[in-house]
Amino acid sequence: MNLPNLHEAKLRTKKESKIIKDDYKIPNDMKNIGKNKKYYIKTYGCQMNVHDSENISAILEDMGYTKTDDLNKADIILLNTCAIRENAHNKMFGFLGRVKHLKESKNDIICGICGCMAQEENVVESIKNKYKWVDIVFGTHNLHKFPNILKESLDKNEQEIDVFSIEGDIYENIPVKRDSKYKAWVNIMLGCDKFCTYCIVPYTRGKQRSRMPVDIINEVKDLVKNGYKEVTLLGQNVNAYGKDLNINYTMGDLLLDVSKTGIDRIRFVTSHPWDFNDKMIDIISKCDNIMPYIHLPLQSGSNKILKLMGRRYTKEKYIELFNKIKNKIPNVSITTDIIVAFPGETEEDFNETLDVVNTCKFDSAFSFIYSPREGTPAAKMKNSLTEEEKNNRLYKLNELINKFANEANQKYKDKIVPVLLESVSEKKDNLMGYTDTMKLVNVKASEKYLGEIVNVKITDVKTWSLDGEIVEE
Ligand code: SAH
Ligand code: SF4
Ligand code: F3S
Repeated sequence: MNLPNLHEAKLRTKKESKIIKDDYKIPNDMKNIGKNKKYYIKTYGCQMNVHDSENISAILEDMGYTKTDDLNKADIILLNTCAIRENAHNKMFGFLGRVKHLKESKNDIICGICGCMAQEENVVESIKNKYKWVDIVFGTHNLHKFPNILKESLDKNEQEIDVFSIEGDIYENIPVKRDSKYKAWVNIMLGCDKFCTYCIVPYTRGKQRSRMPVDIINEVKDLVKNGYKEVTLLGQNVNAYGKDLNINYTMGDLLLDVSKTGIDRIRFVTSHPWDFNDKMIDIISKCDNIMPYIHLPLQSGSNKILKLMGRRYTKEKYIELFNKIKNKIPNVSITTDIIVAFPGETEEDFNETLDVVNTCKFDSAFSFIYSPREGTPAAKMKNSLTEEEKNNRLYKLNELINKFANEANQKYKDKIVPVLLESVSEKKDNLMGYTDTMKLVNVKASEKYLGEIVNVKITDVKTWSLDGEIVEE
């Protein structure tokens, strides 16, 4: 048993991370353990977790399991968890209740918990003491060891917890079963060293470590060969890519090299304003296959709160960067993340956030009420706001966000825009996809267009989506 440790999770030493290429192996007696059995994965959290679940799926299929979307039919159930806010916690414990119920009726179901919550000391303590029926727990640093952890649990017939609070290494050659045939997630860096005072990620994902450019480029080249049209380069701070490699190669260089692979569409998330440099902006504006879409988290419009958050930019610097991106990248859409009710946020501070939203008129934004995370510096700061005040601020902010999202979408009416049609939409006879600027479009089209980038005329506009029809050449 290895348990997470908050103190160790905080450590950052000078030790270089290793690139490990041959550590994934399924023990012989686990190779067929999933024959005629089904797996179900519930994924919470960010794209990084979605991509981890693609790795876990491939590992399960290497053990003979097949996928099901029906929880009741599953022989093994995995919860890939997120720790970013308290409600992510609540959702996962709620779902765990359903799994317990199933396990009571069918005892040989295996239940596992992985992802960011598994890296949290208090969560694992509670699983160990109160959820003894959970079979395995593993963390973000050792998901490729999952077959071995499962074996331990089955051999000993007891709960197996294997979580490491370490800075972390880079594991290459972990198999992946991608959810889409057209667009793919590609990790370019893992972990985070920014330590924003509210955020749990640096403790759950280890230190910032960039994958080698050649490994990333080869992965993208392979995707092109296999017919993929879009890649999203993933990292908590993609703009800081390469800084830890000491090879004088940064995000701008990587974007240029990925662009040269000829893939149709390149996206990247998330951009911390801190490391966004002119070279990047220049390259994005010049390369046609780098999409004109930037997610640029603001978090707050008050310099006092930004300082308390440890974001290392001011509202003025943010707006300057925002304007530079808008002016240099034609047709760009910019979205953001905002936290309200951070400890110490006065009505004035909150109004400054609204001011920045009024200035930037974001295409869209994710907004959150601040949620204290155990072990982070902000969790110790005093917050005197009532629940009602917090909710009012969120409501007010959302009204403004919605107004500008709608205005941004209105500009698309009657325009012809490129859309990658990626799946059948919920309203069955439509397909859905995204514009280059990341607008969701429902398109009247037959399934033969799936996986194609087509020109679409926008016929109707809503706040969160567009409707359109294919324009035949
Ligand atoms: N690496 C990204 C953010 C990843 S987390 C960045 O730095 O921009 C996604 C978003 O969740 C953050 O941008 C922030 O707005 C929100 N978030 C993170 N921790 C939070 C907390 N403790 N309470 C509320 N929202 C939080
Ligand atoms: Fe969290 Fe800040 Fe790192 Fe983003 S940059 S993951 S908000 S610590
Ligand atoms: Fe959540 Fe972990 Fe992502 S905390 S947001 S799943 S990095």
